[in-house]
Amino acid sequence: KTYHLAVLPGDGIGPEVVNEGMKVVQALSEADSSFQFESTTLEWNSEYYLKHNRMMPENGLSILENYDAIYFGAVGDPRVPEHIPIWELIMPIRKNFHQYVNLRPIKQLPGVKSPIHAKGLIDFYVYRENAEGEYSNSGGRLYQGTSDELAIQNTVITKKGVERLARYAFEYAEKTGVKKVVNATKSNAIIHSMNLWDESVKSVAASFPEIEVEDTYIDALAAHLVQRPETFDVIVASNLFGDILSDLGAALVGGLGLSPSANLNPERNYPSMFEPIHGSAPDISGKQTANPIAQIWSAALMLEHLGREDLASIVMKAIENVVNEKTALTPDLGGTARTFETGDAIVQHIHKQ
Ligand code: NAI
Ligand code: MG
Repeated sequence: KTYHLAVLPGDGIGPEVVNEGMKVVQALSEADSSFQFESTTLEWNSEYYLKHNRMMPENGLSILENYDAIYFGAVGDPRVPEHIPIWELIMPIRKNFHQYVNLRPIKQLPGVKSPIHAKGLIDFYVYRENAEGEYSNSGGRLYQGTSDELAIQNTVITKKGVERLARYAFEYAEKTGVKKVVNATKSNAIIHSMNLWDESVKSVAASFPEIEVEDTYIDALAAHLVQRPETFDVIVASNLFGDILSDLGAALVGGLGLSPSANLNPERNYPSMFEPIHGSAPDISGKQTANPIAQIWSAALMLEHLGREDLASIVMKAIENVVNEKTALTPDLGGTARTFETGDAIVQHIHKQ
């Protein structure tokens, strides 16, 4: 089978790290004739917006729909209002393609120092609800320009939306022998939406009697993740809570440069999208100092989703080797390597396996 990949490098460091990710995908297809792919690079980024006043063509989604997967860098540019790339490109893809699971592995690679002293390697998954929740455009502003100005931002939680996310997380827990799922909540203070959230998680948990579900308030959970991150395996969280917890998690295991994510449509009716959790990092772009590992790791998640766990584990082994050897690390991990040198080192390890 030939896999068709839509590649959206985006802005800033996006193209720099995506280039390394595609080098790795290319190396895999050279090493293994059973893996063939064709890729199309789509320059739907802030530059495109400045020219066309939109982030993608009018039929952008129907173009993307034909691909097996979307490999995404990051978008964001100081010349374009911050909400534009998110609401005109990322959100339409996530919502229209029903990518309701945002999977964010928080995994400490051997040799990577955590800023805190955990009693063991940190290794957990955040399952973030990705299609509704707090990131809604429902609401508005009133009395603008007066001293009575007010804003209302609605959260949309649906029973179906929470249950499908929770089911996916519990199925993973069951498959991997995880005994406890932590539910990130705040139903003591956010009484309508978060109570429906908790009830929906519980109704799914009832079909998994061998797995304990522990409701933890988001504020306490943030503290626990700093105090004893090694004790967590699976966390289910709403869109906002999951976003925050996964950046916190990323900081515990070496930073944004090492943190991948998958936006999954579990039913596979639409393409899923794979991207690092970091943004376009305008502060370091164009210098070849960005760490490409999060982007390359995201390619491993893509291969796993495409049914090539074998190739995903080759990529992961290559990443682990390069991180452990410490000879091709970028400045965020204390090294002096350029972005492409880290990519080259990972490609070399793939050819050695
Ligand atoms: P950011 O993730 O781009 O950068 C945060 C900090 O981490 C910066 O100091 C940056 O240099 C560093 N960093 C990020 N990725 C790195 C890597 N691979 N290697 C080494 N260092 C890395 O987040 P920030 O600064 O809040 O946002 C910058 C732009 O990116 C904004 O326009 C924002 O809207 C956008 N953004 C886009 C996302 C996406 O496309 N999914 C996600 C997050 C932010
Ligand atoms: Mg984020």
